[in-house]
Amino acid sequence: MDPSTLKVGEKMFKNPSLVFTIFGSTGDLTYRKLLPALYHLKHRNRLTDDTVIRCIGRKEYSKDEYIAIIEPWIKKQTRFSFNQETFNEFVKHIQYIKMEFTNKDAYSTLLDYPVGLDNLYYFAVAPEYFTVIAEGLNHVNYLSDFKHRVILEKPFGDSLEHAIEVNKVLTNLFGFENLYHIDHYLGKEMIQNILAIRFGNRMFESVWNHDNIEQIQITASEIVGVETRGSYYEQAGALKDMLQNHLLQIMSYVVMDKPNTLNSSDMLVKQKSIMEGISLDDIVLGQYDKNDKFLAYRDEKNVHPNSQIETYAAVKIHINKGQLKNVPIYLRTGKRLKQRATYIKIIFKPSSSNLYSNLHQEVITIKVQPDEGISLSFNAKKPGTINTITDVKMDFCQSCILENRINTPEAYERLLDDAFGHDDTLFTPWQIVEMSWKFGESVRELVKIENRPLVLYPANSQGPKEADEMLQRDGFEWLDEDEISY
Ligand SMILES: NC(=O)c1ccc[n+]([C@@H]2O[C@H](COP(=O)([O-])OP(=O)(O)OC[C@H]3O[C@@H](n4cnc5c(N)ncnc54)[C@H](OP(=O)(O)O)[C@@H]3O)[C@@H](O)[C@H]2O)c1
Repeated sequence: MDPSTLKVGEKMFKNPSLVFTIFGSTGDLTYRKLLPALYHLKHRNRLTDDTVIRCIGRKEYSKDEYIAIIEPWIKKQTRFSFNQETFNEFVKHIQYIKMEFTNKDAYSTLLDYPVGLDNLYYFAVAPEYFTVIAEGLNHVNYLSDFKHRVILEKPFGDSLEHAIEVNKVLTNLFGFENLYHIDHYLGKEMIQNILAIRFGNRMFESVWNHDNIEQIQITASEIVGVETRGSYYEQAGALKDMLQNHLLQIMSYVVMDKPNTLNSSDMLVKQKSIMEGISLDDIVLGQYDKNDKFLAYRDEKNVHPNSQIETYAAVKIHINKGQLKNVPIYLRTGKRLKQRATYIKIIFKPSSSNLYSNLHQEVITIKVQPDEGISLSFNAKKPGTINTITDVKMDFCQSCILENRINTPEAYERLLDDAFGHDDTLFTPWQIVEMSWKFGESVRELVKIENRPLVLYPANSQGPKEADEMLQRDGFEWLDEDEISY
């Protein structure tokens, strides 16, 4: 067969319309997220017939062996019931290529395979390899014809300095507009919904300001510990893994002033303004300790026995401009906590009414995962009383409706679909990545300057008491969220 032609299923193609190449195709991210997302896109007829999914790994697998490995992952992760026929069609798109990506000369292997008219690379590898792979592709002149784009996983570097260096090298080789920084939280349904809720409703838009809002809390808590990812986590910690990217991104959607349009350049203007205006007020870093059921972080596999890495981070910040100027914003994230849940609480200032006593907090809750929805807590008269106030809750649970669950694409599915269609709206622009790094570095700097201790918290708890005390000093407390079962 002419090496520049390709057989996908029964059809022959000269240059496929899209070649999607995954570096790190035997990793956790690929098995758990990327391949299931691609399978879903196949199920929804979102892959063109000639799309090639080129999986690069250093393990010696035949295509059949690789398919046998991925099948159970897809069965486990699919949001539809698994369909063997669709899977059989899906795997026709897949190639497995054995290649050691740290060996520059090994890239010549790729020359045996046709380049696409559009080539999208997914670097599902540690950031130290981003430039290694890009330079390897360039070394064999692979990037010279047609379009070449890259999706980069967070963390986009090991430090601010490294992130800037990576960006420079990749911009030179691919072009600035061809770099897609993925923050999969932006692909989540309720994150996209934040702007719709805020700017599609006068009743919310009109009160979303510092005159009415007392404080904002954003929580992303996990039950799991580091599991098998100890070596990665030792380099990252909660700040780099969650806070400086996912939580800041969510915060910017909650706080940003209204963009002129929802396109990426208008959104960038507003997001930049938020990121420029962040002031850091307080911070608590913690690490989980053992309890009778779970290991301490320091006893986990591939973790240093005296590790100083934080598995919990809580910060207090405020933005010094815009509609929510000076409103306290509390962000917290951690592993081995009591609950798996990501949610946002918008807490209103107490009513100025003197007609009623014992008023409760008015709160808008946006639930991001695992439950998706929005609820309102407000005051009403208790039935049968003269003027006794009770707090009531109105709840819209998006994910309780089976049809919504089935029709809601997973974040990676949504973002890959967007990237295939050249839509970068839900990817993080480099300017924001850089600002997030600057914020992360400022947190680390403060911890160092003020010699803040890393505090221990018991596994399966709500986190360190020091994080509670941070809010208590302001006269507040964390508002937790119950899980809905459906
Ligand atoms: N897992 C997630 O849910 C998740 C979420 C967000 C971001 N990320 C980020 O995504 C990246 C990958 O994460 P992961 O969890 O998938 O990591 P992982 O399970 O450790 O996978 C890393 C992949 O890179 C390959 N690799 C490493 N060194 C190589 C080399 N010299 N030559 C060829 N292949 C090499 C590994 O191959 P072998 O299998 O042969 O070792 C494996 O396929 C990380 O930067 C992580 O921070 C992951």
